[in-house]
Parts: sequence; structure tokens; C-alpha cells
Amino acid sequence: MTALLDVKGLTKRFGGLVAVKDIGFKIEAGEILGLIGPNGSGKSTVMKCIMGIEKPNAGSVKLDGIDVAGWPTHRIARAGVGIVFQHARPLQRQTILEHIKLALLPDNLLMLATDHGVTRRAEEIAARVGLSQVMHRLPRTLPFADLRRLELAKAIARNPKVVLVDEPFAGLTSGEVADFSALIGSFRAEGHAVLLVDHNVKSVAALVDRVLAMYLGEYVAEGSAEEVMRNETVRRVYLGGKIETAARPEREGKDRTPLLDVRGLGVLYGKATALDDVSIHVGEGEFVSVVGLNGAGKTTLFNAISALVPYSGTINWRGETLAGRTPGSIARGGIVQCPESRELFGDMSVRENLDLGGQHFPVAEAAKQLDWLFGLFPILKARQGQAARTLSGGEQQMLAIARALMMRPKLLILDEPTLGLAPVILEQLSKALEVLRQTTDITVLLGEQNVTFALPHADRVYVIEHSRIIWEGDPARFAEEAGAGYL
Ligand SMILES: Nc1ncnc2c1ncn2[C@@H]1O[C@H](COP(=O)(O)OP(=O)(O)OP(=O)(O)O)[C@@H](O)[C@H]1O
Ligand SMILES: [Mg+2]
Repeated sequence: MTALLDVKGLTKRFGGLVAVKDIGFKIEAGEILGLIGPNGSGKSTVMKCIMGIEKPNAGSVKLDGIDVAGWPTHRIARAGVGIVFQHARPLQRQTILEHIKLALLPDNLLMLATDHGVTRRAEEIAARVGLSQVMHRLPRTLPFADLRRLELAKAIARNPKVVLVDEPFAGLTSGEVADFSALIGSFRAEGHAVLLVDHNVKSVAALVDRVLAMYLGEYVAEGSAEEVMRNETVRRVYLGGKIETAARPEREGKDRTPLLDVRGLGVLYGKATALDDVSIHVGEGEFVSVVGLNGAGKTTLFNAISALVPYSGTINWRGETLAGRTPGSIARGGIVQCPESRELFGDMSVRENLDLGGQHFPVAEAAKQLDWLFGLFPILKARQGQAARTLSGGEQQMLAIARALMMRPKLLILDEPTLGLAPVILEQLSKALEVLRQTTDITVLLGEQNVTFALPHADRVYVIEHSRIIWEGDPARFAEEAGAGYL
């Protein structure tokens, strides 16, 4: 029996960098192959080469026995390959249902868009991915997880034989991951061949039939999930160890004026309430985690603090109001936010992005800081000259965090820093935060739905749900009192 997808000797170079080197695998109909590896190991590049978004330098990509390597993307799509990107750019004027209808139609038959059969089928797909309630809304009004559902809905509508799914679980909560796993599992049940990339190791292992691990563009291991996760190289370069933190002494000055004091914060987006009477405070040197599901209001809270959205209520910084201050002046005053959306300058190099963060410091001080960050994220040192937009997903996340640290914040706000990072990098980041805590007076406000990362570091935890703070307390009490639904 010929495999539905048969990749041999796939190689892709970017200048002197070999991003993918002699990679091969087969996927049968009704099979899911997991592709794992640290950030920058070439996983997305493999998918882009199969899809024709990047032209491979060597190798064959056989689809049902026909070599499509080097074909243009639209022909490969028509031959039956579909990709679910991590970062979707939906059309802004089309509703969710219209997006699904467009995906249902072959590209030159758009006039059929009014066909009742098409509408009915699109509605069925919307229901299947859980978008029924919102199918007449525009993408920009929807939370992150729903946009990911839309991407899956489009893939279902196009009905490709081979589905490439890049990081579907990133930024999703455990409940959402379960829903998505079921949907991806249904691709298998319907006889599609699926290639799945994600850093959520547990969920990948639970879903796939086999796993292929790569590192620095090269093959490392292939086998059952269990076999591959036991492989020594995979453990060393990808999985890393457990996140551990040292016990912390009771903080001094606990009762002094908090560094940041947010009281009765309200934010409206049009008529929708994004934050309702939210009060939090962060003491000097404290590490505070705000835990909440997608859409709960974490990002809005951080954006209000950084003066990026209008709000009611008060925000005091070192005892003085932030009302009327511009985002730039707030950042210079020591509150630096590393946003979920990264906001990198894509056409500028890694180095230029970092230098921007350090521009307010004397040259020698900035150089020292840069050195320290390069020690923390060696890949950024190696890629100083590379344009930020061509970095892998996880590399971009590292750059965004490094740029924020480059500004030497007094208060560092990290919005979902774990998004798209390999386990081993999470462990490194975790260690770096520990070093920062113990050697500097940095204060951290962390927004996460990944509690395994958010809890170990935190002095104090807030839980935000539907625009309100519903719990505050010690991380040790979290599991008992607030953990349901997160752990
Ligand atoms: N256009 C490009 N020019 C230069 N280098 C590139 C380009 N595209 C990708 N790379 C590099 O190739 C390597 C592989 O990137 P790729 O996006 O495939 O990694 P990945 O395994 O998907 O990583 P992640 O898990 O972080 O998403 C990375 O180091 C990346 O910086
Ligand atoms: Mg990637």
C-alpha cells in the first residue's frame, strides 16, 4: 500500500543555515504523525515545504504516489494538502460563516456562494467545531480560541487528504485542548493523513500514532510516542527537566505602599464589558501571577496598565496616578510589557530589535545587558543578523521577552510568555526568572493560563474569570480552592 504522504530526503537551506536536512517519513491514510523538536528545529519549515510555501532544495514529497515537490502552493492545495497555521489572518469583513463557505468552494466557483446546500454544509461545520453561537460575527470580535476553531473549520471545509496542523494547542486551556484533540482525531477517523506539530507534549502523545523528533534540522528519533519521549537525545534537547523554584523568604516591606495599585478598573469594548471592578496590587520585588482562561481579561488588564486602552478606575504607580500618561512615558517610568502578540519589528534584525530596547542606557551598560541576554537565549546571539519575521515561532517569543528585559524594567509584565516555547526553553526561562528574582529587585506581573508555569514562581496568585477577579491567594492554596478547570 502506498502511503498517502511520502517524504524523502527533504532539505531546505536559508543562506548558510540548513533548516531541514534530509528528513523523510510516511503517513498512511487514517494516521496521525506527531513532529516534535525544540524551537527552530525546522518543523514549520517541513510543513511549508510540503505545502509549497517554501521550495525545498532537495527531496521528494509524494502525494498518493505523485511527486509534488516544487509545485506552486495552489496546485498542491488542489492536489489535496491543507495547512492549519498557528497565526491566522482572517478576512476582516467576512463573517465566520462566510469564511467557512469560501473554504467550501473551489476557487473559481465563487458565484455558488448563495447556494443553500453550501450554507447548510457551512453551518454543519460551524456546529462541529463549536462556532454555531458566533457564526454571524466578524473575526475581530472573537476570542483567540474561536479564531483557532475557524482555522480548523476551514480545513474541514476544504477537505484535504493530507492535513498539516502547526501548533493547534498553543495558548489554549486544557478544556479547549481536549476539544481540539477530538477534532483532529476526527480527521484520522475520516481517513485523512495528519502531520501534527505542537509543544504540548502530553496532548501530542495522547493523540498521535507515531512521533518523529528533529533537532537542528536533522532526524533524531522515530517511533511510538513513548519510545521517542524516552530517547536520551530527545530528553536532553527538547524535554528538559521539571520546573523547580527555591523556597522564598518572607518578603520585607510587605506592608509598604504597593508599587502598582489598581483599583476598581473597568474597561468596555463597545457595549461588551472586558473588565469589571478589577482591583489588584503588586508589591516591590513581588512575583504576581494572574491566571485565567482565554478571553477572561488578562491582556485587557495589562493593556490598561500600559495605557493602551481607555479605562475607568485608578491605576497608581509608586503612589502616583498613571492617568494621562502616554504608553511611552509609562514604559520609560519602568513598566515594561511583553505582549502576547510580540510586536516585534519584523523587517529589522534580531540585534536591531534588542538595541531598541537598550537605547536609553549608556552604551557599556546596554552591552552588558545584551551579553547577559545572549547567555540566556544563545540562539538569539547566533541569529543577530536575521530579520525578526523569519524567526521560528518560539524564537520570536524569546526575542520579545529578551527585548522587554533589555529595557531593565522595574515591573516586567509578561503576557502568556509560554506560548509556543519548547519544554526545555520553558525550563530555561523559569531558571532565568529565578535568577532575576534572587539577584535583582525586579517585580513581575505574569498573565498565564498555563498554571504549571505560573504557580511555582508566584508569591501571590489572582484568578480572573469573565472580566472579574474571583480569587486571590497563596499558590499553595490554589489547587484546593481555585484549581478546578486549570489543573
Ligand atoms: N526565511 C528564513 N530566513 C532565514 N532563516 C529562516 C527562515 N525561515 C526560517 N528560518 C530559520 O530556520 C530554522 C527553522 O525554523 P522553523 O520555523 O522551521 O522552526 P520550528 O521547528 O517550527 O520552531 P518553533 O517550534 O519555534 O516554531 C529557524 O532557526 C529559523 O530561524
Ligand atoms: Mg514553528
